[in-house]
Amino acid sequence: MQPSGSDLSSFKRPPREGKLVTVGRAEDVPEGRGATVELEGGRELALYRVEGGFYCIENFCPHKGAPLADGGLLGHTVACDWHGWHFDLRTGACLNRVSQPVETYEVVIEDGWIKIRI
Ligand code: FES
Repeated sequence: MQPSGSDLSSFKRPPREGKLVTVGRAEDVPEGRGATVELEGGRELALYRVEGGFYCIENFCPHKGAPLADGGLLGHTVACDWHGWHFDLRTGACLNRVSQPVETYEVVIEDGWIKIRI
């Protein structure tokens, strides 16, 4: 169910810590759909594997807060399930609306482990 309410683009994001957090094995993330990563404290990120590369963005659409990990993927673009806003996984830019970008996070693969810089 979609919540009603105003645009959430002024939502305050938590500050960056700069540390790498290990979130799982690379082989466990399938191509072509998002995976939800839950961090300590309940914060969520959306992780994607596209053409062998890994991309991570916040799991929160700036329109009305939908989880972007559930959105459909087309190449390096995720389409929010709720109202169809599109975001580039590489830059976080919103591609079809005037909106602030979503946060992107560096993904590092080390010995098959996925690490995200939060
Ligand atoms: S919540 Fe409306 S487009 Fe994402």
